[in-house]
Amino acid sequence: MRLGWAAGRRRRLPFNLEDAGSHRWEERAEAAVELLVGNVEAICSDPAAGLRIADFGAGDQRLKRVLADKTDLQVSYAAFDIRPQADSVVEIDLRRELPAGDFDLAACLGLLEYLRDVPTFLGRLAARYPAALLSYSVSDHSEPLTKRQRKSRGWLTHYTTAQLEHELEAAGFGRVAFRLVSQGRTGIWLVASHSSMAASSSSASSSKS
Ligand SMILES: C[S@@+](CC[C@H](N)C(=O)[O-])C[C@H]1O[C@@H](n2cnc3c(N)ncnc32)[C@H](O)[C@@H]1O
Repeated sequence: MRLGWAAGRRRRLPFNLEDAGSHRWEERAEAAVELLVGNVEAICSDPAAGLRIADFGAGDQRLKRVLADKTDLQVSYAAFDIRPQADSVVEIDLRRELPAGDFDLAACLGLLEYLRDVPTFLGRLAARYPAALLSYSVSDHSEPLTKRQRKSRGWLTHYTTAQLEHELEAAGFGRVAFRLVSQGRTGIWLVASHSSMAASSSSASSSKS
């Protein structure tokens, strides 16, 4: 029997959510958490007091689970998504607004690819939060996806690693730590806002004097 064109098309959920069970998403979250644990003192003067984390584009709250399973970090966790998958996730369109409330770290794993205006979003993050943990599927892999393949995944931008780093700096973030996962396809950045870095270096120098 021949399938009609519509029946034969692969159905995709928005934001590639049919891939949520994939090893790559788990690896990304685990690597991001390792990067955070290894460098937490660079972004938080007293991690024992607890880190307030906002998970932007939280999906099924994988980050919360990985933090609990793999670390002893004291965290308070709040999840935000345009398509909440649980009652505990606050519905928000991050293209338009950020939530009220103070957080020490904004996590954006697998989110930036779906935002058209990455520079503006990063600028808003840097103005509000002392630190961020971000992933991005970079376009400068040795076997890169074509723009067409990236677009077919719903990804709206095509930054190389260096270009995304440039956008982070221009937005007001400095790099604390970085690593590549998924055989070099996905970069993970832990960054601190320039204002929080300046504040912590001036408090360090005044405590020495
Ligand atoms: C690729 S999934 C990643 C989910 C999760 N962070 C993870 O790593 O498992 C991207 C998530 O971003 C959310 N998202 C996309 N655009 C958004 C927007 N404008 N505002 C809020 N959430 C958004 C989607 O609903 C989806 O849950």
